[in-house]
Formats: sequence, structure tokens, C-alpha cells
Amino acid sequence: MEMTFIMVKPDGVERGLVGNIISRFEQKGLKLRGARLMRIDRSLAEQHYGEHRDKPFFGELVDFITKDVVFAMVWEGPEAVALARSLIGKTNPAEAAPGTIRGDLACDVASNLVHGSDSVESAVREIELFFGKLSTNLAS
Ligand code: PPS
Repeated sequence: MEMTFIMVKPDGVERGLVGNIISRFEQKGLKLRGARLMRIDRSLAEQHYGEHRDKPFFGELVDFITKDVVFAMVWEGPEAVALARSLIGKTNPAEAAPGTIRGDLACDVASNLVHGSDSVESAVREIELFFGKLSTNLAS
């Protein structure tokens, strides 16, 4: 079994899409192992998106993710990282296939509703950043 980190970004929480997004992961057969409605401070945002520090949109990305609450989750299943990425769809909603979260519900690359870990290594790092060590009880 594999775990992945999924975060509904401020635009998704604001638009009332948390339930819709959770349903898609549940319907696929993934299991929800942890969830937190939380506000991200700039330090956590900069750590989370650290690999994009040199990208031109980094400042905009940090501003966006810290502007309001997010809904952070851990989902588990066989190949959970890849399955979740396929449910989410391509980064740019204009390129995301219909049937994916971004393909169905988003239209702007800067407000693309949801983040999903891009590898097993990223998932471990991101789950620890947001939920603490994997050995801790994610549901608490
Ligand atoms: S890259 O260049 O392929 O590594 O970047 P990518 O993985 O596609 O995107 C990394 C995260 O940055 C977000 N992103 C943007 N935010 C604001 N403005 C622009 N133009 C932009 N382009 C990409 C993108 O949604 C990724 O965030 P997460 O939370 O991982 O989806």
C-alpha cells in the first residue's frame, strides 16, 4: 500500500468543492487516512513548494496558497500517488482531460483547485510536513 498527500487549495475550499473532490477519491477506491482544515503560513508554503523556488510564479504560488484555509489529506491505496495524479489531471486546466478534477472544475493554472504529490518520495516528505512523522496517528 502507498500513501499520497492531497491538498484542496484555497480556491477549492472557497468554492465549496471539498466534498466533490473527496467523493472522487472515495469512488476510485482510495482510503482517507488523515485530514486537516488548516491555514498554511509562508514558512510551510516555502518548504512545501521549495523545489519551485526559482520558478517565475513562485511568489504568486506562495501568496495564493497562504491566502486562506486549505484542506490537507492523506489517501492510501495501491499506487496511490499515480492514481491520485490521474484523478487530478494536468497542471493547466486547459490541458486537463474532461473527467479529471481540473478538467471538470478549473479554468486557470494559478487556481487549479488541488495539489497531489508527484512521487512516492514527495508524498513521504509532504505527509511529514503537514501531519508529522508517518508513525503518528494520522486521524488524530
Ligand atoms: S513545473 O514547472 O512543471 O515543475 O511546475 P508544475 O509541477 O507544473 O507546477 C508546480 C506548482 O506550481 C503551480 N503553478 C503555478 N502557480 C501559479 N502560476 C502559474 N503560472 C503556475 N504554474 C504552475 C502548479 O499548480 C503546481 O502546484 P501544485 O500545488 O503542485 O499543483
